[in-house]
Parts: sequence; C-alpha cells; structure tokens
Amino acid sequence: MAAKNLHKTKTADLDVLDKKYIWHPFTQMKDYCNSSPLIIEQGQGSYLYDIAGNRYLDGVSSLWVTVHGHRKKKIDEAIIRQVKKISHSTLLGLSNIPAIKLAEQLLAITPRNLRKVFYSDNGSTAVEIALKIAFQFWQQKSAASKKKKKFISLTHAYHGDTIGSVSVGGIDLFHQVYKPLLFKTLTAPSPYCYRCPFKQSVAQCGLACLDALEKILKKHNHEIAALVIEPLVQGAAGMIVFPKGYLKACRELCSQYHILMIADEVAVGFGRTGKMFACEHEKVKPDLMALAKGITGGTLPLAATLATEEIYRAFLGEAQDQKTFYHGHTYTGNPVACAAALANLEVFEEENVLKTLQQKIKLLARRLKPFSGLKHVGDIRQCGFMVGIELVQNIRTKKPFALKKKIGHRVILEARRRGVIIRPLGDVIVLMPPLSISAKQLNTLLDVVFESIHIVTEKHNN
Ligand SMILES: Cc1ncc(COP(=O)(O)O)c(C=O)c1O
Repeated sequence: MAAKNLHKTKTADLDVLDKKYIWHPFTQMKDYCNSSPLIIEQGQGSYLYDIAGNRYLDGVSSLWVTVHGHRKKKIDEAIIRQVKKISHSTLLGLSNIPAIKLAEQLLAITPRNLRKVFYSDNGSTAVEIALKIAFQFWQQKSAASKKKKKFISLTHAYHGDTIGSVSVGGIDLFHQVYKPLLFKTLTAPSPYCYRCPFKQSVAQCGLACLDALEKILKKHNHEIAALVIEPLVQGAAGMIVFPKGYLKACRELCSQYHILMIADEVAVGFGRTGKMFACEHEKVKPDLMALAKGITGGTLPLAATLATEEIYRAFLGEAQDQKTFYHGHTYTGNPVACAAALANLEVFEEENVLKTLQQKIKLLARRLKPFSGLKHVGDIRQCGFMVGIELVQNIRTKKPFALKKKIGHRVILEARRRGVIIRPLGDVIVLMPPLSISAKQLNTLLDVVFESIHIVTEKHNN
C-alpha cells in the first residue's frame, strides 16, 4: 500500500492522526486522547512554534537536551556538511572521522583518568553499557573478583528505561511493575534533605546517609561491582540536589571498598550544573561515565560511555580468551550525530558559554527567592541551570497533594496558556532552560511559572 502524501495532510488532521497512530512515551494515553495535543512544527533559539504558529518559550530544553537553543547555525551546518559526505557507516570493525575526533575531544574535557569512549544512542544505553562493562570487568580481572556481580544505587535514582538501567533505578511509579524482570540491586538512601530519611536537618546531620552507604559497602563490598550515581543532582527524582561533599565522599568510599564508580552524567553533563560536568564540582574521577542528552546540543540521538584504561585493558586478549565486549548498536558512533556533537563542543568554546552562564545562574537564584513566599511551595532546589520547585499541600507537615489533583500537570497547562513549555515531575515543577536563554527570556519564564503556581495552588480550589 502506498503511503499517503504527508505534505498534503492538513494541519487540522494532524491532531486526529497523532491520537490515532502514536503511543507517546511516559504518557497516559487516555488523558492524552481527551486533550488537545500541542504539535510542534519549528524551533528557533529558546522558542518552539506549534502548527498554528503560536510561540512558546522552551523552559525544559526539549527534555533537557537543547543547550545553545534550537537551530543553532553552527550545529545545523555541521550536520548538513556531514550528510553530504556520509550519513552512516558501522563502527563494528570500521571507523569514521567524526567518531574519532569526538572521542578525542570528549576525553580532553572529562576527568583525566577516563581514556576510552564507547558510543551508543541514548542515556539508558549509555548506563546499560556501563553496567555490563563493570560486571564483565570484575569477571575478567581475577578469580577472586568474580563474586563482584551486584550493583548499588540510591533510592529515587533514575538511570533510564532499559532493563538494566531500570534495575538500578529507584522510582517506584516507573519501575515497580517491572520488578519481576529486574536483577536485584542494593540500595542506599538518597540524600534527599527536604525529606531526610533520617529525619535530620542539613545543619546537624553530618551526612548520616553516607554512614548508611558505608554500612552496606562494608558488609557487601566483596560482591559489589559498582555504585551507580547521578552526580550532584538526582534529576528525574525531582531535582534532588546533593549536600556539599556527598559526591566526593561517595568516590572515596568506592575507592576504599574497591568498587567501581559509575557517574551517570546524562542529565547533568554539558554545562547544566554550571560546569561542563557535575563531577568537576568536587573533583571526582569516576571509573565509568555515561553521557547523552546535551551531547549533540539537542539535535540528534547520541550517547557515550567513558572508561578508564584499567577497565579497557581487562577486555583485551586472544579470540579464545573470550574477553571481547560483545555489545553494540546498529547506529553506534553515527557520523552525523558525532559531527553535531563536535560542533556543540565548538560552540561551548567559541561562545564562552560556561562563563556567560554564571550570571544567568545568579539571576535564576535571585528570581527563585520570592517563590518561597507562595503558600504551597515546600522546597526550591537549584543546581546551576537545573531547578525543582516542590509543591506540597501543607508546607509545615510537607504533606504532598493527593495524586488525583494533578497539581504539577495543572501548573504546566497554566504556563502553556501563557506561552511557556515546562514539564513536571509529579508535583515538582522543573525548570531546565537552554543555557543560551537571554536574561529577558529567563525573567519571562520565572514570571509565568510564579503566576501559574500561584493560580493553580492558591487562586483555584486545590
Ligand atoms: C540521569 C539519567 N540517566 C539516564 C537517562 C535516560 O536517558 P534516555 O532518556 O536518553 O534514555 C536519563 C533521562 O532522563 C537521566 O536523567
């Protein structure tokens, strides 16, 4: 059967066709099909444009990926140049120019101990690969290390949606149903200070959550392959920002108890926290690092898992030794995506992005202060250009709103009516604007979010 000529599809029909044919990710389709979907046609800078020509400020960087704004000329041109040479050739046994150059660049800007790059195409696979590498590393390192088969991760962690990355995840809403499919993982308490698992306050706790982690490591280190952790901020959990020193202490514990540290920089990497990588804030050198999202500046799917020389060497051997890492995806190291990533890094350098970002981070912090005067804002968490505003029914008791009230969702719809796209994580309102957003646009974003929270939680019946 011939495909319909899509160019002739009327924009009004797209709404119907979308609901008829697409199963959207992380979306209750019953609600979606009863709503009017927003269909995006174009982007420019910090803005998205829908099929009716309406303009929206992209307050979440199109799911945390758009670094320098939409249609960044330099990246677009690099993509076009590469397409004119070749769009894809396999990295299984062959190589390509952008993949080689990008690997060199990535290793130049990440912690020095990381020496090899393994490509894939999304954050989940970058983590999945890190898990498999860590597991196989210990299997091949020595007879004594073969028992190291388990992983440890934090409560509330999110590392992606493949079975391995879900196994080390800790968000029940997403992960509970798959429990029978998952491998068993040890879990340490997240340093979620607003809802401290030890009922302590930050000032007096002395990082009790670290003691809990150490207790597990002391008992189980002989069977643990690696700690998997989102450095500095647990993003999907609702932007849980670690207390100072926690990440570094985790690194020290990993070294002390001979387990690998996997830093999942998928959300926090590429400038989000104010430095290129979150690990830099506490001079942490992980053994494996997962990168994705902002790697191509929000243009094409690409991911990378970086490893140390020691880990890489454990995979070398003769064919009969069977030490090869038997993993790879069809589009691994795609040259167009790698060319986009190279251009993304060039923009960082040429436009001094991280330097200009510092003023905007301060502006963001200043503008967030008045939010604490809103009656239902329980906690405001900021790390660089990542923000989570936790809305609660009762500020004193921290009692959450009832799920059925869909407060977070209602806030984002209110913002949408005012020309701003944001996405909640439950009742945590997330702000992740492009790093390139102007001060004026940032002020608009905060004005609209303030007003939307106020209207939904105070003016309307909640
Ligand atoms: C920390 C972290 N790791 C992994 C992932 C999964 O990335 P992807 O959605 O590209 O598979 C995400 C996605 O939000 C993430 O925040």
